[in-house]
Amino acid sequence: MSTAQHLQLVTDTAVQETSVSMDDFGVWFGDSCIISGVTAKLPARGVSVLVGPSGAGKSTLLRAINRISDDTAGLAIKGSLSFQTEDIYAGCCDVTELRARIGMVFQKPCVFPRSIAQNVLFGLRGVKLTQAQKRDIVESALRSAALWDDVHARLGERADTLSLGQQQRLCIARALALKPDMLLMDEPTASVDPVSARTIEALMRDLGKTIPVLTVTHNLAQAKRVADYVMFLCDGQLVEAGAKDHMFSKSALEKTQTYLCEEFCDC
Ligand SMILES: Nc1ncnc2c1ncn2[C@@H]1O[C@H](COP(=O)(O)OP(=O)(O)OP(=O)(O)O)[C@@H](O)[C@H]1O
Ligand SMILES: [Mg+2]
Repeated sequence: MSTAQHLQLVTDTAVQETSVSMDDFGVWFGDSCIISGVTAKLPARGVSVLVGPSGAGKSTLLRAINRISDDTAGLAIKGSLSFQTEDIYAGCCDVTELRARIGMVFQKPCVFPRSIAQNVLFGLRGVKLTQAQKRDIVESALRSAALWDDVHARLGERADTLSLGQQQRLCIARALALKPDMLLMDEPTASVDPVSARTIEALMRDLGKTIPVLTVTHNLAQAKRVADYVMFLCDGQLVEAGAKDHMFSKSALEKTQTYLCEEFCDC
């Protein structure tokens, strides 16, 4: 069986309902092809983990899903990428709405020089809300991000007084305040301590019960703990994707086994 046939089989059996679907998808920056020929479907629920060596194109792929790289010089997209049923690179896609629907959390927490509450409400600046509604949204988002107990008595304090782990959960709360249909997370635990990392992992598992979560990690033990579905990207190409158990123990592809089990990649 060819790699392409094998991949198709694994993808079809693992993904019943789809959130993101890519067909021969590629990303170029000027003359550099960063990602090419990615054909894959991500499940509509649960945690999908994108793994691969440094420079494989993981962040580029993640950022393409909510079109956050649109303004990058020389960007060119090939093939198609749909979210739910909408082709997001088709002319009619409302990019502002897309970014609200697909939240994103970055490797380094990026809080604004405002209060904790204002950070949570940042994405709702243009929306008319009563004080009571604002209070409800702040509490609900902070509870969902497992931060309420830490900060409920200091909502008016500046967000940069929080620890890094708390700041990262605040960034998650800010994304959740918009009630996203999907959450993208680019190495969300890379700059936090192990305890905060475990809290964020638990959060991902919890969020995955209601929305699709796609996260990038270099920590394969973490991938094993949180993933329902795993995509292995190498040198801008999707080597293999499938359910976690398949990827970690039953993959017939030597490249997948070498990376996931021996943490080595020669591509
Ligand atoms: N704006 C850009 N212009 C040109 N090349 C870029 C640009 N952004 C990223 N690249 C290149 O694309 C490749 C993939 O980068 P990307 O950040 O997606 O990798 P990654 O898999 O996320 O790596 P890491 O694990 O180190 O975060 C790299 O070679 C990078 O230098
Ligand atoms: Mg990256």
